[in-house]
Amino acid sequence: MKHTLPLTFLMAASPLLFAAEPADTNYDESRTPTYALPDLNVTNREHWESTRRAEVLRLLEDHVYGRTPGNAVQIEVAILEGPTEVFDNTAIRRQARLTLSPKEHPDRRISFDVLVYSPKTLKGKSPAFIGLNFSGNQCVHSDPGILRSPAGGKASGAYASRWQVPMLLKRGYGLVTAHRDDIDPDNYRHDFNDGPHPLFYAPGQTKPKEKEWGSIGGWAWALSNTREWLEGDELIDASRLAVIGHSRLGKTALWAGAQDQKFKLVISNNSGCGGAALYRRCYGERIHHMLKPVGYWFCGNHARYALRENELPVDQHMLLAAIAPRALYVASAREDRWADPKGEFLALKNAEPAYALYGFDGLTASQWPSPNEPATGGRLGYHLRAGRHDVTAYDWGRYLDFADRHLK
Ligand code: GCU
Repeated sequence: MKHTLPLTFLMAASPLLFAAEPADTNYDESRTPTYALPDLNVTNREHWESTRRAEVLRLLEDHVYGRTPGNAVQIEVAILEGPTEVFDNTAIRRQARLTLSPKEHPDRRISFDVLVYSPKTLKGKSPAFIGLNFSGNQCVHSDPGILRSPAGGKASGAYASRWQVPMLLKRGYGLVTAHRDDIDPDNYRHDFNDGPHPLFYAPGQTKPKEKEWGSIGGWAWALSNTREWLEGDELIDASRLAVIGHSRLGKTALWAGAQDQKFKLVISNNSGCGGAALYRRCYGERIHHMLKPVGYWFCGNHARYALRENELPVDQHMLLAAIAPRALYVASAREDRWADPKGEFLALKNAEPAYALYGFDGLTASQWPSPNEPATGGRLGYHLRAGRHDVTAYDWGRYLDFADRHLK
């Protein structure tokens, strides 16, 4: 018997496979439109801190990611495992289930499992990287003691190369990670009824309103609550956290870092459209490509800008600027044209004025650099890696060097 599935089903189920090359994708630099970016309008530090930063965040909420409920959240913690000495007694592993509920509705709750590694050190608490993973905590390393994430995912160690756990422990950093699907399931059936969104619904509400948060907002919210849980931790120093993510989770890391000023360093790996890349270049992935497969990542209002990027009152240089004056690293990959690597660089370049308010230099490169020539300067970092959409040991090497300057 021949099994056939409608194309729309396949596209939605597997955006990675199918969204990569819609026929109308522009990869021709000479066909990117002439555009003017919305004015960052940074004048001085005082104005930035008291007024402009909040305005920028509001624009990003209303037109891109939606508003995150500000309601107080109760965090309950169940220790699942550890502390356990691992890796020849060089590190400590702990695993916990966090249950989050709005204080005014303790009966509404979501739970997700967090894996924490910290290096054994005599130097006190360790700085750490915190980020969501795609396919289960068990994927980040082949350590058989990692509990499989409740939402399942891939096999033990499947994404070990993307996390480089031994490298970061050796360099003196911890890792805190959770599976995105435990927080808000990321699939074509997405209906806003099994993630964090219903926790905050008004009576009768069944999905977020036009300017309320999507999945990226939900994932970012979970990252902030996990950071908060770590405050007072004995092994991880919550005041020295780098929030990091790849691709859609890179978009998430940027939005988490922009909203929550307690993340000291923010790292976007190949985050692309809706992440570090400028919408107005219309190169590679665009809003209309996202609507069907992954529109739920954003707020409803975002869809209005499909094929009308020029009308967006924001662009992503403003997202990056909202992180100032904290340290920020954006990384691209040469062959990752879908994510518009050059657009990621240009967004970062155009965020420099916010850092200049604090006397921080911009990137060392004024033009898009060649592959594998990092251009870090002041509190900003950028590299274009040779190769495709991925996170590699090369990327981690640069992040660790940058973190040594900003978290140690
Ligand atoms: C798809 C999507 C991108 C996203 C990527 C990923 O390719 O179109 O926007 O960044 O998936 O998360 O891997």
